[in-house]
Parts: sequence; structure tokens; C-alpha cells
Amino acid sequence: MFGAKKTALITGIAGQDGGYLAEFLIRKGYKVHGLVRWDSYMDPADGLKRLEALGLTDAALTLHQGDVTDAQAVTALIKAIKPDEIYNLAALSHVAVSFKTPAVTMEINTKGTLAILEAIRILDMEKSVRMYQASSSEMFGSAPAPQDENTPFQPCSPYGVAKLAAYWLVKTYRDAYGIHASNGILFNHESPARGEDFVTRKITKAVAAIEGGSREVLTLGNLESMRDWGHARDYVEGMWLMLRQEKADDYVLATGQAHSVREFVERAFAQIGTTVVWSGQGVEETGRDKRTGRLLVSIDPALFRPKEVNHLLGNARKAQDALNWLPKYYFDDLVADMVNADRALLWREAGGDSVWKMTG
Ligand code: GDD
Repeated sequence: MFGAKKTALITGIAGQDGGYLAEFLIRKGYKVHGLVRWDSYMDPADGLKRLEALGLTDAALTLHQGDVTDAQAVTALIKAIKPDEIYNLAALSHVAVSFKTPAVTMEINTKGTLAILEAIRILDMEKSVRMYQASSSEMFGSAPAPQDENTPFQPCSPYGVAKLAAYWLVKTYRDAYGIHASNGILFNHESPARGEDFVTRKITKAVAAIEGGSREVLTLGNLESMRDWGHARDYVEGMWLMLRQEKADDYVLATGQAHSVREFVERAFAQIGTTVVWSGQGVEETGRDKRTGRLLVSIDPALFRPKEVNHLLGNARKAQDALNWLPKYYFDDLVADMVNADRALLWREAGGDSVWKMTG
């Protein structure tokens, strides 16, 4: 495939996408370096659990303690590693949290991206490195669905605004300095390694726990939002494909199918053979087991956001044509994979054998 081993730097390597991307690149023969924030590094049992679960130990990759907001340290790291490819996945990625910490969100998601772009420029690496920027469908915000690369952005959250500023920095540095930097505008992508604060994993973990008898009720916010949910494994391959192109560009990755949070709940419970029936309105609404009448889902107004993105549905035609990228997982397969993984995890935990357990 290539002669000398290529070197990649992944910021945010401890996150869902970081783990899958590291695994993917190592299989491709890359030498992988990862930037890990201090709190992940200090609490490896929790912070590095995804890498551990994928079997990615220190022997497989090199981890560096640091933070994308520390521009000098980022520059020094890039100078030392001399990566061929940089994947900037480090972010404050929770949209609801960004309303509570908007300034921190701008620091990490915008200035962190700027630190990498500036490092490339300062180190005269414009022609020797390729960069992937984790842009987000959240940048589309209230723009009508379906959305593609030509849809005007209308972000609805500090997270979306911060990601959009970073997106424009990437385009600006590409045009101004000739840096091979691409934005992947990724719609929601999930997996068994998804953080438990995101709605899909929150649901699948609760469904497994309710089935196992260790939990009573799943509490959610807005059930009506529509999301285009794909599988993270498919999306990390798309990131890599973007950097294979002769010219840097921006691409949407999406499945082209949108489902509501309510449908996700129904599909997840169906996976354990339970049919949910809904009754009531708004915050009074409940979901019950059709067969037994048992309460399964309730609504908590505290889980609603100050402003909501109602409908995200991506058109990934450009990525299909230019990158030959197509997802392998669609909604039903994704939900099944996540529920089954959480059932297996619960089973292992009950037996005192957590998959996340550190071995070292
Ligand atoms: N997190 C969460 N928790 N969301 C809930 C809940 C709940 O209890 N109840 C309802 N929701 C709704 C949210 O209001 C939102 O409309 C939808 O579920 C999805 O929420 P998240 O899973 O938190 O994801 P997101 O769409 O806000 O953001 C994700 O996708 C973006 C791409 O569009 C994140 O991964 C972002 O980092 C990513 O950029």
C-alpha cells in the first residue's frame, strides 16, 4: 500500500471515534500517536477504557498527555512527531453541555482547531501533512432537511457555532496557505462505545438494565427530534478516505435516513421483545409495556435544551461519488448492535468481569 510506515496523530483519541479510527489506521499499517487530555490520562481505567476495550495498548500506539487548547504544546508535539496525517477529533462534544459551558466550548472546539492549523503553518508543514477536521451536522441547526454540503448553516447551540467557526478556519487556511485540510460534516454516529450521556447509548444501556432487572424506568427529554444515525465504524473509514483525495474538500457523511428519538426507544425495546405504548402529552407523556402495563419511559423537562435542532437528515451523495463511501450499518442494525452490546456488558459485569477492566 505505502512504502514507509505513515504516521498519524489523532487528537481526542480516547473518544468513541478516536478508538475506532486508531484501530482502523493501525490495521492499515500506520504508526498512530494520540493526544489525550489530562483527566483521561490521570484516570486511565475510565479515560482510556475504549482504547483498552479495542485492545489498543501502549504497544500498539503512542499516547501523549496534552490539550488542544495549549497551542505551544500542540506545535511542539507536531514538530516532534512529524505526522503525515492529523485527525482533529478533540472536542467538547455534548450539545446540551455547551449551553452551560459556552466559553470552554469555543476554546476547545474553535481555538483547538486553530492551534493545529497554526502549528502546520508555523512549522512549514503545509505541503507535508494532511488534516481531517471533525465538523458536525449540528452546524446545520435549523436549516431545513435534507442537508448537504451546499445547505446554508444555521447553528442552534454554542457547540454548533464553535464547530462552524472551526469549519471556516479550516476552509480559510486551506485557501490561504494551500494546506490539505478537509472538513468531514458528520451526522450523528453511534456505537456500543458511545458515551452514556448521548441519547442512543442512554437508551440502549437502560433497555438492557430494565431487561436485566437492575433498573426501573428510562427518563428522557425531547422524543420528537429527528436524527440521521449511523455507525461510528463506518464513519471513521470516511475520515480516512477524505485524506486520500488529491485535493482537500468538505464532505457530508450520513445514512440518508432520519428517525425520531421516540422511534429509537421503540426499536431498542423491540430488540428485547417489548412493545412500548405511549400515552399522555408533553412532559406528562409515558411509555409502557404493552403486555404488562409496566412504566418504562418517563419525561424530565430538565433534559430539554434551551434551543433544539429538530430535524437532521444528511445527503451523502458527494462522499458516495467522490470517495466511494457507503455506510454498512443502517438504523435497525445499529440499534441491534448497541442493545446487544449493552446486554452482553451487563451480563459480564454481573459476573464480575467488566469489558472495560484495565489489565495493567
Ligand atoms: N443527550 C440526550 N439525553 N439527548 C436527549 C435526551 C437525553 O436524555 N432526551 C432526548 N434527547 C434528544 C436531544 O434533545 C437531541 O435532540 C437528540 O436526543 C440527540 O441528542 P444527543 O444524543 O445528545 O446528540 P446530538 O444530536 O445533540 O449531538 C451529537 O451529534 C452531533 C452531530 O449532529 C453529538 O455527537 C455531537 O457531538 C455531534 O456533532
